[in-house]
Amino acid sequence: MAEAGEKERVCVTGAGGYVASWLVKFLLSKGYIVHGTVRDPCDEKNAHLKKLENASGNLQLFKTDLLDYEGLCAAIAGCTGVFHVACPVPPGSVPNPEVQLIEPAVTGTRNVLNACMKAKVKKVVVVSSLGAVAVTPNWPKDQVMDEECWSDKDFCKTTENWYCLGKTIAEQEALEYAKRSELNIVTVCPCIVIGPMLQSTMNASSLLLLSLLKGGHESMEDKAQPVVDVRDVAEALLLGYEKPEVEGRYLCSSYVIRTSALVEKLKSMYPDYNYPKNFTEAKGDMKLSSEKLQNLGWKYRALEDTIADTVKSYKESGFLG
Ligand SMILES: NC(=O)c1ccc[n+]([C@@H]2O[C@H](COP(=O)([O-])OP(=O)(O)OC[C@H]3O[C@@H](n4cnc5c(N)ncnc54)[C@H](OP(=O)(O)O)[C@@H]3O)[C@@H](O)[C@H]2O)c1
Repeated sequence: MAEAGEKERVCVTGAGGYVASWLVKFLLSKGYIVHGTVRDPCDEKNAHLKKLENASGNLQLFKTDLLDYEGLCAAIAGCTGVFHVACPVPPGSVPNPEVQLIEPAVTGTRNVLNACMKAKVKKVVVVSSLGAVAVTPNWPKDQVMDEECWSDKDFCKTTENWYCLGKTIAEQEALEYAKRSELNIVTVCPCIVIGPMLQSTMNASSLLLLSLLKGGHESMEDKAQPVVDVRDVAEALLLGYEKPEVEGRYLCSSYVIRTSALVEKLKSMYPDYNYPKNFTEAKGDMKLSSEKLQNLGWKYRALEDTIADTVKSYKESGFLG
C-alpha cells in the first residue's frame, strides 16, 4: 500500500497494552513504521515499547485518549492502515460502567473511525471480542459458534455484562460504518488471550493462568475456557490487514478447554505450583469455529508452547517465583 521504496506507516491504538505490544513488535519486525497511541508516553508501563527491535527509528508514540478526537487525528495522519486495539479491559466490575467501559469502547471506536476517514486510511482492523459473539441465550445449544453469532445486547444489559455490551455495540457500529463509507473495516474477535507478556504490568486476561498457578483456590468452577495465544492474535490482526480478500468479522480462538483439564496440563509441566484443589461442575459447553480465519492461512501454536512461554515470562517479570 505504500509507494515503492517507502515503508508503510500504520497506527496502533493503545500500543502499550498486552495484545497491542505484540502487534507493534511484529509490525516493527516486518519493517512497518508504527504510530502508537498511548495515554501517557512517560509512564513506566510503556517503557518496553521503546526497547523493541527497530523501535528507535520506526516507532513514534502519540499521547492521546480514545475520547480525544483531535489527538487521534494527529496520531492517524499519514497512515495507510490503523489497528484499533485500545479498550478498557478491567479484571472485574467497575463502579461507573457507562463512563469507564461503554464510552471508551463505543465513542472511542467512532472517534477512531472518523479520524481514519479524515486521514483517508485504506484499511482499519478493529479488535472486537468473543464477548461480542457468545453472550447470548438464543444460539442453539450444541451448534458451533461462528461469525454469524452475535451477543444479545439486552441480555448483556440484564446480566450487567457491560464490557461485552460495549464491545458488541462498538463492533456492530464499526461494521455498519464500513457499509455506509469508503472505509475498509474488518473486525477480529479473540477469545481469552493468554501467553507471554511484553509489558511489565499485569493485564486482566493474563490473570487466568497466573491465578491457576498460584491462587491456591480451595474450589473452582470447572468452566469451559476458550483460549488463544497473544502472538497468534497479533498474527491474526496482521493477516486481517495484509490479506486483500479479508471481509467482515473473524472469530479468533484456538482451544476450548475445561479449567480442570488446563490445570492438569499445567501440573504435568510444572508440578510444584499452588493449584486449585477441587472443581465444581459448570454447565454449558462452548463450540467455536475459527475456520474463516484459518482459511486466510491463520495457524495457532500448541497449548504446551503457550504455557511454557507464559510461565517463563511470568518468572522473568517476577509474577511467579
Ligand atoms: N485480553 C483478552 O482476553 C481479550 C479478549 C478479547 C478481546 N480483547 C480486546 O483486545 C484489546 C486489547 O486488550 P488487552 O488484553 O491487550 O488489554 P490491555 O492490556 O488492558 O490493553 C488495553 C489498552 O487500551 C488502552 N485504553 C483503555 N482505555 C483507553 C482510553 N480511554 N483511551 C486510550 N486508550 C485506552 C490501555 O491504555 P492504558 O495503558 O493507558 O490504560 C491499554 O493500552 C481490547 O480491545 C480488548 O477488548 C482482549
